[in-house]
Amino acid sequence: MSSCMHPDNDQTINPSGNTSIRDVMAAYTGRRNFLKGSLGAAAVMTLGGFGRDAMAYTTPSSSPAITFTGVPANLAATFTDKITVPAGYTAKVLIGWGDAIGRTGPAANAHWDASGAMTEAVQLTTFGAHNDGMHFFPFPAVGAQGESNDRGLLVVNHEYVDPGLVHNTTSYSTDTITKAMVDTQLAAHGVSVIEVRKNKGEMQVQRPSAFARRITGKTPCRISGPAAGHALMKTAADPSGSVVLGTLNNCAHGYTPWGTYLTCEENFNGYFGTTPAQLASAPLTNLERRYGLSAGGFGYRWHEADPRFDLRATPNEANRFGWVVEIDPWNPNAIPVKRTALGRFKHESAGYAVGDDNTVAVYMGDDERNEYVYKFVCANKYNPRNRAANRDLLDSGTLYVARFNADGTGVWLPLVFGQNGLTPANGFSSQADVLINTRAAADRVGATMMDRPEWVAVHPTTREVYITLTNNNRRGTSPASVNAADGSTTAASARPPVDASNPRRDNRYGHILRWKEANNDVGATTFEWDIFVECGDKLATAPHLQGNIIGDDLGAPDGLWFDQDGRLWIQTDQQGDGLGDWANIGGNVMSCADPVTRRITRFMTSPRNCEVTGVISTPDGKTMFVGIQHPGEDWSGSFTARSTWPDSGVNGATTQKTVAKPRSSVVVITKDDGGVIGT
Ligand code: FEO
Ligand code: CA
Ligand code: CA
Ligand code: CA
Repeated sequence: MSSCMHPDNDQTINPSGNTSIRDVMAAYTGRRNFLKGSLGAAAVMTLGGFGRDAMAYTTPSSSPAITFTGVPANLAATFTDKITVPAGYTAKVLIGWGDAIGRTGPAANAHWDASGAMTEAVQLTTFGAHNDGMHFFPFPAVGAQGESNDRGLLVVNHEYVDPGLVHNTTSYSTDTITKAMVDTQLAAHGVSVIEVRKNKGEMQVQRPSAFARRITGKTPCRISGPAAGHALMKTAADPSGSVVLGTLNNCAHGYTPWGTYLTCEENFNGYFGTTPAQLASAPLTNLERRYGLSAGGFGYRWHEADPRFDLRATPNEANRFGWVVEIDPWNPNAIPVKRTALGRFKHESAGYAVGDDNTVAVYMGDDERNEYVYKFVCANKYNPRNRAANRDLLDSGTLYVARFNADGTGVWLPLVFGQNGLTPANGFSSQADVLINTRAAADRVGATMMDRPEWVAVHPTTREVYITLTNNNRRGTSPASVNAADGSTTAASARPPVDASNPRRDNRYGHILRWKEANNDVGATTFEWDIFVECGDKLATAPHLQGNIIGDDLGAPDGLWFDQDGRLWIQTDQQGDGLGDWANIGGNVMSCADPVTRRITRFMTSPRNCEVTGVISTPDGKTMFVGIQHPGEDWSGSFTARSTWPDSGVNGATTQKTVAKPRSSVVVITKDDGGVIGT
């Protein structure tokens, strides 16, 4: 997103200078097939091949069926403010911001009051704002073995809010901020658990439901794992360092083989702030700077009314965010648990793989320019026969960070106190220190800086892991630090150079990378990788912007998910109006890729100024849930100028609210003949 108030990873704060192509070449010269022949580094980079042995990485052998006819791009000149899906498919709104989740309570389906302002009371019984990652947990099938395709729990993240939309104000940046306003915004964050059920063949929200739940920015969460109770986790309100109120910036997600949901805290730094005067007397610490904390945050201004979000009034509160949080959707009273063993960073998503011996690995990305890719391997094995035995599996294990070598191999570097320089001499006194400042630990061990890691997706049969690297405009000093679009120049020292796994300077359109573990062992410490696709615009004049997509162009890949048959669904988060760099690509999309042929076909286009994020289906693949986030986004407050989706009456929504606002929503996509989505 491009809003000034929501910079969306718009900072470069990794000071480590890790892993340039020169370091990699120095370290790995002479390894397997490295720089075949006598080509020098510059020559190889010009060819774009980096000398890697492309044949070493083998793909799954058979393509999934992908037989739909792709839809045209939603180009700016003819932009339609709705979802378009292929002929023979229907997209219909299931639930949107402010719709009842199926709990009783005050104004359970009021959306907002007559003035257009959302209230905390309404928000606590209704669907939160700006939905993002989600998962479908099926009920057991009725009268048969297996899982239901007709009934389940849909668990959905609510990443952030647009305060102007929440309070129906066009002057939020200068309005007086009250505690009630902060509480309302906190209530719009977090997670929704809703029950969905087929009624006369159509998937609908079950209201009321005993499972319906809102977890918010104020819901007590237990802190567990090695960082629990550490001095940096303690506050005056929680001297034990073991209970924090709420979860924030729940971007993408994961789930576990034992049936729990993982919600990932991403840009938590944006909610904290303080006064310049306070910072003058107590400057930002290295820890705070490494996570992008600042006096102004992203402009939420919560610290003006709630000292919990004031970096100097409650200096450790920010340390209690940036974690992966485990939620049991089947128990509405279960306390969410922040699993500190998985590290603290701007978590995007968490994708698991289970090995032949029931070892569990969780793959994760840190979404900021020039940050890292991580893996957590549980110390204890998954027990498929005893759900309770897996309850605290995520509390002990080894966190690794990835180094992508130039020859197509990679290494998982352990982030373990006492190893690889993670010692008191370098500022780490315990594993808790390593985890609270995961980024600094990863800097220390020499991880590879990546082009903004977003979602991970694990192939359902091969265990290959794919990751979206959405874009990076702070990459590449070669051949010159000149921005091709606007002619601006940047000092060479400010940008990491391109490398094999992030091969393009000014990586405007992003790429998708994949790896597989040595011996297909999820606990392995080495892997092989390749670049699945470089996204781009075939019509771009600059060669490095054209990409190598076979099929329909896209850029800024973000959401990523393998369905049950191995189709790779790619969702994009770029400038959602199809203007500028997107003139040939159009608005945001969900496309479908064949992991064998690499062909990409556009399945869905989206309303104006939204992003497409969140995708899951029922186990049979016949009912797909897809998220539309921030339609019409414009933090200046002209809410309906860009989008009136969905309440304009498209995509199955007909109800005009008392005060019209575009609303983030989840849609259900079905095939009209009842078939599997994508075929
Ligand atoms: Fe919330 Fe990295 O997207
Ligand atoms: Ca994302
Ligand atoms: Ca994104
Ligand atoms: Ca996003």
